[in-house]
Amino acid sequence: MQEKILIIGACGQIGSELTLKLRAKHGNEAVIASDIREGNAEIMQNGLFEFLDATDKAAILMIIHKHEITTVYLMAAMLSATAEKQPKKAWDINMNSLLYVLDFAKEKLIKKVFWPSSIAVFGETTPRIDTPQKTILEPATVYGISKLAGERWSAYYHDKFGVDVRTLRYPGIISWKTLPGGGTTDYAVEIFHKAIKDGTYECFLAENTTLPMMYMDDALKATVDIMDKKPFDTYVSYNVAAVSFNPKELTGTIQKHIPNFTITYKPDFRQEIADTWPQTINDSLARKEWDWNHEYDTDAIVKDMLTNLKS
Ligand code: SER
Repeated sequence: MQEKILIIGACGQIGSELTLKLRAKHGNEAVIASDIREGNAEIMQNGLFEFLDATDKAAILMIIHKHEITTVYLMAAMLSATAEKQPKKAWDINMNSLLYVLDFAKEKLIKKVFWPSSIAVFGETTPRIDTPQKTILEPATVYGISKLAGERWSAYYHDKFGVDVRTLRYPGIISWKTLPGGGTTDYAVEIFHKAIKDGTYECFLAENTTLPMMYMDDALKATVDIMDKKPFDTYVSYNVAAVSFNPKELTGTIQKHIPNFTITYKPDFRQEIADTWPQTINDSLARKEWDWNHEYDTDAIVKDMLTNLKS
């Protein structure tokens, strides 16, 4: 049977580029993009699209039947900063959507699920340097709590019901096509837009706040790679890492291309979130078990971001 893919949350930062990548890989007819809102022209015009609310179980089921979906990428989520402002709504969106999709897989209506986790599963009590795959998980944010719960639910459905669900713990994702919405790592995208447009940026994190980051191309590669593997015997929400930097270091790299670029710092509530997250991640298990590796270092990310955003 041909693989038919449904992407829920296809208009977000990762969903929009994942949609294009999967359409290129599997063909436009094999990929259904869906979101509660319209996406950019590329998403809307190049392939199939359905309006879909990730918290509407019946609506998801209808789309699964209508398009004979075999694989779901559940990319809809409320990110860390926004979730702090609407905790119950964030829980509702982040958890219910996952439980619906896991149930559909348990009932054999679909075969395979991708669900992203995050570095937000870690917390203040986690070692912050070279954060291990298996470590203390005491997240202090609503978003982190929902991601940790989602990891445990995924493990449960995998072990009890044989559900094929695969998960990565994404770090902050840097990209130029679609803006991120409501995350703590968003500064690392905003800074490029402001550097080009205004030559200056007011950063909501302090200059020495080091966080793990990854370029979109690498995040998509990791996602496609893990989904291409044979089913795993054990469910693991894999640490994946690429680079780590703080706003001051990122500014220095941008200044190599835009020497007059200036930055000021005005930390807000997002600083508190960032302070509970790791600085660097140990992803040796992913590198060993399914050959994960990243291509873009900070210099390459900055160069590619500036080139694309300028044109
Ligand atoms: N980029 C996300 C956030 O900042 C982390 O998963 O919320």
